[in-house]
Amino acid sequence: MKHSDDTFFQHSRTPALDDLEPNLCHEAWVQYKATGQKGWDLSGSNPTQTSLPSIHPDPDIMRAAIDAPYEASSQGLDVARRAIAEMYDGLVDPARIQLFASTSEAIGALLKLLCAPGDNVVTCTPTYPLLDCLTALEGVSLLEVPLQDCAGIWAVDLWALERTCSPNTRALLLVSPNNPTGHLVSRDEMAALVEFCAQRAMALIVDEVFSTYCLRQDGDAMPKAAAAHFSSPRDGLIVSLNGLSKVCGLPQHKLGWGIFGGAPNIVHEAMQRMSFITDSTLSVSGWVQRMTPYFLSHRDDFAQPCLARLRQNLATLESYAQKDNVQWRLDRVQGGWSACLRLPARADDMAICAHLASRGVRVFPGSFFDFREKQPACILSLITEPDCLDHGLQILTHELESLL
Ligand SMILES: Cc1ncc(COP(=O)(O)O)c(C=O)c1O
Repeated sequence: MKHSDDTFFQHSRTPALDDLEPNLCHEAWVQYKATGQKGWDLSGSNPTQTSLPSIHPDPDIMRAAIDAPYEASSQGLDVARRAIAEMYDGLVDPARIQLFASTSEAIGALLKLLCAPGDNVVTCTPTYPLLDCLTALEGVSLLEVPLQDCAGIWAVDLWALERTCSPNTRALLLVSPNNPTGHLVSRDEMAALVEFCAQRAMALIVDEVFSTYCLRQDGDAMPKAAAAHFSSPRDGLIVSLNGLSKVCGLPQHKLGWGIFGGAPNIVHEAMQRMSFITDSTLSVSGWVQRMTPYFLSHRDDFAQPCLARLRQNLATLESYAQKDNVQWRLDRVQGGWSACLRLPARADDMAICAHLASRGVRVFPGSFFDFREKQPACILSLITEPDCLDHGLQILTHELESLL
């Protein structure tokens, strides 16, 4: 018997199936690929599908990790938390670290910790599109405050945040370096945001997954593990997130972590309550926790070549951006794995990216990341193979010249 979704799924937190239909860009790319041509995919951000080196575990160490007896730990094994703390040069106390199966899982768990269904959290856009799904899946609304956009240099708009937050706003979610704008929250901004959130009993959650990849470390940029820099009774609750996915280029091993900072009594209670959440699933694999010291001690085997590629690709983009008749402008990239090519204000970025896909070049439209209508953009991945980026950019630049 066929049941209508009205009966079964009217209260579901998943989107209506119509909203999951492939978009124009995806369809155009699938059609192009069906012709058998390889094309120039400038959008890929999965490090395991690039020529970047992979960290291969030593077989004996891995065997020992797999064979070790199971030790259930809601906070995460000591051996993993100590290795993570070491990465931050003594700034972070292992007792303030909570392990998760990924950064995304950490965000979901923090929303469970802080929000009742119907509450809201706020973020600054453009940003990582998965925040939309993660909040919806917890029954929480996501309020969006546009970042200030000063000709490709981005900044958090504190006044707009002030106007947007309500008594039901439980947290500010920030990504720094941001995906895709590549901008870093400055020290002054972070201090102001900590104060802003603490005064409203809102947590400040900082997704720092790209903090290993700072390309232009301006003097006033907030260093990684922002949470560890705040510990006064006035500071509320700050959580810095990171994981193996970007630090080591190992998204498949599923390990993320949160560093808790802020007012000691609030941090203590938050971590105890979080233990209740993580104890109910114990989702982090035992062998991955035991392998974490190994993976982190070899992180430069991936991170250094990755940084070199990001710099090389950024230099390529910068040299294209200086050519005559180029119809796009490159935003400043302070860090991360993406670059934003800004288009003239009248352009429709979805239509343009669909057109580019039909010509064999895949990039994402800015509208995927909540760029506003008057800020059309093409977003590309800086971990793209350099040759592919070069060829793809030639076609993209040529196509945009004839389209715009
Ligand atoms: C900003 C940001 N946060 C989190 C993630 C996902 O991290 P994880 O694999 O740890 O869930 C990504 C993945 O691209 C990301 O861009």
